[in-house]
Amino acid sequence: MEDAEEEQRRRLKLEEALEIQSLRRIISAYLNYPDAADEDVRRYERSFRKLPPAHKALLSHYPLKFQRLRRCISLNSHFIFSMLQAFEPPLDMSQDIDLSEDQHPEYAQNDHLFREGIDSCSCESAPLRITCSVSNRHGCVESNNDSCRSSVLVHPNEEMSIDSHHQSDTGSHPSNTIHAKETSGYGEITIADSNENATVTSSQQQWLDPSFQLNVPLVDVDKVRCIIRNIVRDWAVEGQKERDQCYKPILEELNLLFPNRSEESPPACLVPGAGLGRLALDISSLGFICQGNEFSYYMMICSSFILNHCQTVGEWTIYPWIHSNCNSLSDSDQLRPVTIPDIHPASAGITEGFSMCGGDFVEVYSDPGQKGSWDAVVTCFFIDTAHNIVEYIEVISNILKDGGVWINLGPLLYHFADTYGQDEMSIELSLEDVKRIALHYGFEFEKERTVETTYTTNPKSMMQNRYFAAFWTMRKKATAAQQQVP
Ligand SMILES: C[S@@+](CC[C@H](N)C(=O)[O-])C[C@H]1O[C@@H](n2cnc3c(N)ncnc32)[C@H](O)[C@@H]1O
Repeated sequence: MEDAEEEQRRRLKLEEALEIQSLRRIISAYLNYPDAADEDVRRYERSFRKLPPAHKALLSHYPLKFQRLRRCISLNSHFIFSMLQAFEPPLDMSQDIDLSEDQHPEYAQNDHLFREGIDSCSCESAPLRITCSVSNRHGCVESNNDSCRSSVLVHPNEEMSIDSHHQSDTGSHPSNTIHAKETSGYGEITIADSNENATVTSSQQQWLDPSFQLNVPLVDVDKVRCIIRNIVRDWAVEGQKERDQCYKPILEELNLLFPNRSEESPPACLVPGAGLGRLALDISSLGFICQGNEFSYYMMICSSFILNHCQTVGEWTIYPWIHSNCNSLSDSDQLRPVTIPDIHPASAGITEGFSMCGGDFVEVYSDPGQKGSWDAVVTCFFIDTAHNIVEYIEVISNILKDGGVWINLGPLLYHFADTYGQDEMSIELSLEDVKRIALHYGFEFEKERTVETTYTTNPKSMMQNRYFAAFWTMRKKATAAQQQVP
């Protein structure tokens, strides 16, 4: 009995150590952004220096471009550091972690899973969708090399709640706060960006101190670049076109399906794979109790910052497109600033009960307490993140109330397809099979069409990858009416 308890205690400690290690790795990736980006500029400079003088003379503006690139990197870094300063890890990041194999043979056993989860990501140049995925408690997500991966664990059910105070009768702006936890005052530690500019951080944030940082492969930093592009999709005016393509049809559908939403008892909507949280916020503002679910700490750190800490529209200026020299129409296009956020989240008229729930969708929502809890589940560019899409559909059906709706928009670019010999489980169904499985789990089709859209695409790039995404509304039949479909 004591042995079992001891074993359990040891296992929990190990899990926590792995989480801390993973989170440190993600924070380190963010902190490595300035150096990695600067190294790119140094590479451009080396190439430039190799040019014969006559060619150099034709490109005399290049040194100035390099200088401007460095300035953009420095401003992106400032945003990233501010975001990290505001982040409150759910774990004690300063504690000593011992992951030696001698003491933890089970870690050695899981080693390959753990490490694979922090593999490379070819976000910038990939002609496909860019995503960031994170492990769950039992292993790491695998994905194709268009996806970002990380092995962090977000505590299931750890929620970032958003306190809402509806606009007062006087029409003045509500003083909403959107928070993960209460934030206390900051002391002072100093970290430097690529230009050696000092940034002040909290004494409680010793985990930002260089001594706590891990060496991460440069490719991890690509995941940070992915996030920067996702910020444009969700929180910039430049992302409006993409949001109109992806989020607007969903919002219009919800509006149609729930015409008589009451303020006293608003319908409940879940958004699995909520990314940076904009769709969830917009659904909340439409009059739903909305919960976003997300398991990537890269995403959660950033969405928490924008939702909870941004004070004004256009508060931050970032340069999302500087990391690719390809397909630019002009240098000024590549170096153009983007201001964020395009709205002040806390003034967006959110419905009380808005939250972001960290954790793996299947793990969190397989909880028996979730059964029949939701009036609507909205998946946008999400269902193809599954190892087993059948399991996703089963969970979605299970958590919906009878008569509840599942609205989906997205392609079937299975994240674990083509994992290059790593033998990750990946069930890659055709759309036809996805629909058949949905019928099996008691859904009936109400609407279906194709939506042409991009995903985190630079609108001024010469390369624009388009998806012909499936868009459907399905309704869960009453349990008694559900039939078994072969
Ligand atoms: C392609 S992104 C889409 C994000 C957002 N819905 C959008 O349309 O921009 C997929 C998101 O799902 C998240 N994700 C992947 N697998 C997940 C899982 N098992 N549980 C929760 N979130 C997951 C990823 O971290 C990523 O943020």
